[in-house]
Amino acid sequence: MRTPISVGNWKMHATNAEAEQLAESLAGLSEVDGVTTVVAPGFLQLARVAERLRSSGIEMAGQNMHFAATGAFTGEVSPRQLAEVASWVILGHSERRRYFCENDAALKSKIEAARVHGLHSILAIGERAEERQAGHTQVVLQRQLWGALEGLDIPEGFVVAYEPVWAIGSGMPATGEQAQDAAALIRAVLAELQGDAVATSARILYGGSVKAENIAEFAAQPDLDGALVGGASLDAEQFLAITRAIAGAKRA
Ligand code: 13P
Repeated sequence: MRTPISVGNWKMHATNAEAEQLAESLAGLSEVDGVTTVVAPGFLQLARVAERLRSSGIEMAGQNMHFAATGAFTGEVSPRQLAEVASWVILGHSERRRYFCENDAALKSKIEAARVHGLHSILAIGERAEERQAGHTQVVLQRQLWGALEGLDIPEGFVVAYEPVWAIGSGMPATGEQAQDAAALIRAVLAELQGDAVATSARILYGGSVKAENIAEFAAQPDLDGALVGGASLDAEQFLAITRAIAGAKRA
């Protein structure tokens, strides 16, 4: 049995006041059983959101981090600092890869650093539109997984988020079938890289224009264990509806 996960990535949205209000709304809604619920506010809002959500059962994530425990890296956040307020970290998001030149070597170091500092990684991978159109989706996902994970010691229950770049923020989600095909491939590659125990216990999330209205299609897929939600996670009712739908589908 894999515990499903619902993750809200708040990206660079929400001021302190907006983040507190959102946290307040989430805390006011009843906890959802049978699903791990995680939110990733901006770094400046993490501590105060953590405080608001302290007794809610909702867990905290960073949206990125440096791999070094400490050092002269102006503008960065270390795993040691992040672990004081969060138990999760999103790594390799396509926005990090695209706008901030995140490469496989850095990503690998970050995944290892997260493990050392007791943080759970959420490794995000996904192909661009032109890569899918050219029929390269499988090759891209394989390359990203090998690049990030080869030679590392990955724990059971490791989380990979399949986020096709073309579906992020576009209002054009993948179909359930496309997401399931990608998730099955991810599981097969994890088996090659890390063995069957890691592959079968890994939680694979779908991300890209997830809404309360379309989550059922993804939650129904056998290899998908939840969602990584951007825009819709800024609306407490939407995010809770998505989280409930994941729990309901995976309990059934
Ligand atoms: P949207 O849900 O806004 O498409 O964003 C997805 C995403 O990038 C989550 O990390």
